[in-house]
Amino acid sequence: MSNLLTGIRTIRDLPIDNKRVFIRVDFNVPMEDGVITDDLRIREALPTIKHALEREARVILGSHMGRPKPGKDNSAFSLEPCGIRLAELLDAEVHMPDDCLGDAAKKVIFDLRAGQVCLLENLRFHPEEEQDDEAFAFKLSELAEAYVNDAFGTVHRAHASVHRMAKLFRDRGCGFLLEKEISALGKVIGQPERPYVALLGGAKVSDKIVVVETLLKVCNTLVIGGAMANTFLAAKGHNMQASLVEEDKLALARTILEKAAAAKVTVELPVDLVVASSTQAEAGTVVSIHEVPPGKMALDIGPQSIERFTRHFADAKTIFWNGPMGLFEREPFSAGTFGVARAMASSSAFTVVGGGDSAAAVHAAGEDLAAKMDHISTGGGASLELIEGRKLPGIEALRG
Ligand code: 3PG
Repeated sequence: MSNLLTGIRTIRDLPIDNKRVFIRVDFNVPMEDGVITDDLRIREALPTIKHALEREARVILGSHMGRPKPGKDNSAFSLEPCGIRLAELLDAEVHMPDDCLGDAAKKVIFDLRAGQVCLLENLRFHPEEEQDDEAFAFKLSELAEAYVNDAFGTVHRAHASVHRMAKLFRDRGCGFLLEKEISALGKVIGQPERPYVALLGGAKVSDKIVVVETLLKVCNTLVIGGAMANTFLAAKGHNMQASLVEEDKLALARTILEKAAAAKVTVELPVDLVVASSTQAEAGTVVSIHEVPPGKMALDIGPQSIERFTRHFADAKTIFWNGPMGLFEREPFSAGTFGVARAMASSSAFTVVGGGDSAAAVHAAGEDLAAKMDHISTGGGASLELIEGRKLPGIEALRG
């Protein structure tokens, strides 16, 4: 077990049999016109919910959805579609009071029988949730006898249901998803098996500075692709033409390269790129990093880069990946991201993929590939902050 879990009980250890247990889940799933487009976060919460139901607990689920604004029509942020989906997945009724507090909610909760579940309406419909408000947390805590956090995607938020509320329970702990996330992500920053390859992509160097510095302390090879690689290539003197380059981060990129050299970490940058005139182009052209044509922008890594990057996977024991290698959402620029995903999935290393864009990229590369990864995080911001080595409020509130 990773150190990050020290002092935290899991739902297994909590006396929840026949009790009212509040489980903070993260059902903040992507939706389009009221339809869930990816229910992964709901499915990932099932082991914890089912465990509680098997122990005849009366399960109260709480979550946020989106970022509703006070005084606006927030009906698009209702958790009702999630409740309906959960009922299908559990093959059981999910009671849904239309507010998380108040007499109607209390009646639903206190009428629950052993082994029944309810999903409270969006906690962020009360602004006090995001304010980590003590009175609000106290009112929520009165609904239950034990508290479980399984909302990994939200543990970096010091919000009432994640932070202050947890501390009001003697019987508090983590669910199975939170436990799995902490131990997998903890492994890639704690004492990872080496050789260790860390692969970073995505748009901005500025988003990843602390992550890079943390990884430089533990990895053997740092592979950099995606738009952030443009800034590193520009820092090394390459003319990136119309590519996205953070001009104000060139010095920082040089410092990172120096730190990597001092730490004896091998840094791999792209040697070729797929370029086009715009992100909307129908096709791209492969060019060397020395010959980006005027007016063209890099939108993916090229085939030689894929080969060089993934060569390191052969004898790796740990691979951590965060950030796509290019504009993978568009087919002409997806080969780099999907090629890396394929190679990572077939490697025998312990493979961990960060949440957000990286998780979306792996799922887009194919569910068969996704199934072969050891861990794909359900948290975007949360996984990055954990990797940065920060103490996250939702995790710290569970200790003791
Ligand atoms: C997420 O999707 O990253 C989490 O659900 C947290 O949502 P937030 O960024 O709106 O706090």
